[in-house]
Amino acid sequence: MSVYLDNAATTALDADVLNAMLPFYHEVYGNPSSQHEMGRKAKSAIEEARKTIAGLINANQGEIVFTSCGTESNNTILKCAVRDLGVKHIISTPIEHHCVLHTLEYLSETHRIKITILPVDNEGRVDMEQLERQLSLINEKTLVSIIHANNEVGTMSDMDAIANVCDKYDVLYHADTVQSFAHYKFDVKKTPVHFLSASAHKFHGPKGVGFFYMKGAAKVHSFIHGGGQERGYRAGTENVAGIVGMAYAAKMAYEHLENDREHILGLKNYLREEVKKALPDVELNGVLDDNQSLFTVLSLSLPTHPSGSLLLFKLDMQGIYVSGSSACSSGASVGSHVLASMGKGADRIPLRCSFSKYNTKEDVDILVKALKNLYEKTV
Ligand SMILES: Cc1ncc(COP(=O)(O)O)c(C=O)c1O
Repeated sequence: MSVYLDNAATTALDADVLNAMLPFYHEVYGNPSSQHEMGRKAKSAIEEARKTIAGLINANQGEIVFTSCGTESNNTILKCAVRDLGVKHIISTPIEHHCVLHTLEYLSETHRIKITILPVDNEGRVDMEQLERQLSLINEKTLVSIIHANNEVGTMSDMDAIANVCDKYDVLYHADTVQSFAHYKFDVKKTPVHFLSASAHKFHGPKGVGFFYMKGAAKVHSFIHGGGQERGYRAGTENVAGIVGMAYAAKMAYEHLENDREHILGLKNYLREEVKKALPDVELNGVLDDNQSLFTVLSLSLPTHPSGSLLLFKLDMQGIYVSGSSACSSGASVGSHVLASMGKGADRIPLRCSFSKYNTKEDVDILVKALKNLYEKTV
């Protein structure tokens, strides 16, 4: 039996979500751009999904654009804000996902966009005073891009506070909500945010589909050139089944938000206590306050071990799936840029456990027992 504790990397597709998607593979498989009835039905399923997602965050339907993933959503927002909205300066943090950080590097190198990276404290919190100081000095069109819930350590930024300061200085605000959408509620009419990004596979939806929200006035044009799909905001034949599945998964998540949160947070706190008992020298990374920390993620720094980072491989051999820091696309083991920016030494072994509604206390017990055994074997 395996223990899957890597839900920040991706979650299992819900069986009900799959059932909602299946007809769009073999019954209503028309191209949504086709004029005939099968095409019109596919198109109307997309618009229904858009209505569902817009409703969940109190957006207007026209403000939701479907994409292929969180990476595409973030790339589109950042690159198109420069191309279409005249942004010349982007303020961000060192603990963004690589799809933001590498896009910022690209924009700096090829478009000479000024990039300001705000420091974070040793728990991953952004210094709001520094942000305000930076904003008070700007003299060019600026976008603030700050991750809402960090995927490696779970630290959350205060979206309302950031949105309000951005509003005060009349700058654009993008929050990468890939880890928090469908786990937390958002109301884009109350929080003056211009862009949000999300990805279905983080909340029991399918892989290969995401969306971004763009506030009415902040209109960017298509990042991908081609047909006029998504009202001209994103070319390419739509992933109809994926879009339907994403909306279904989001709706289900919202219906069970409170119960799921309670269950998952209980597991996170249980692991926190049990691992401390088993390995007193373990360190916890990120903010410990439940109100400022993603309830699905617990990041640990384990004491040194003769196996080093191969420790994770030893867990893997026992069917226990966790992550070093974040899921690494190349498979190569590189140090965590997030932990490094928080001043966490590379001498310890980072271990990220991320939970879903499907995890149980037994999963935590199995992990803790396996860790205890691995450390006991060394003495
Ligand atoms: C915070 C954050 N942003 C963006 C992404 C990229 O999302 P996707 O895997 O859908 O491209 C991830 C994925 O882990 C993430 O955690």
